[in-house]
Amino acid sequence: MRSMIVVTVLALSSCTTIESHPIDEPMLSPAERAWQDNVFPMLVSTCGDCHRYNEVGFLDGDDVWSVRATLVSSVEVNLDEPGQSRLLSHGPHAGPAMTPEQVAIVLDWLTAEHAER
Ligand code: HEC
Repeated sequence: MRSMIVVTVLALSSCTTIESHPIDEPMLSPAERAWQDNVFPMLVSTCGDCHRYNEVGFLDGDDVWSVRATLVSSVEVNLDEPGQSRLLSHGPHAGPAMTPEQVAIVLDWLTAEHAER
């Protein structure tokens, strides 16, 4: 019974998501889509505790697009040479290093941003 309720709630919430983005979604560029769907949720959940409104605040911002603007204009990102971005090369520190999978997600996005400049 409990799992039926969970399934119903998930089904309802996914409907809501589809209905609330009918106009915006098709207009996203590949880089914007990669940021919104893959990079933003990963970075905020993995790194956001220390990098939002903090000493090193490269994830500052109140929504998905203002966080992107902060990060893209920070020294952590090198859009001329995405692979050289400090965001990717920064190893274990007070926080964790990114896993190879996380690095690949970020590099895909930065490469798309580079291509769209
Ligand atoms: C527990 C807190 C914490 C977490 C979580 C954390 N960091 Fe950090 N990060 C720090 C602190 C403190 C510094 C500044 C000192 C240093 O560079 O070690 C820093 C510095 C950095 C810098 C260098 C900034 C600069 O310009 O000098 C980068 C890049 C960075 N972190 C990336 C990340 C990434 C990517 C994640 C998530 C995978 C992450 N951090 C998660 C605490 C954290």
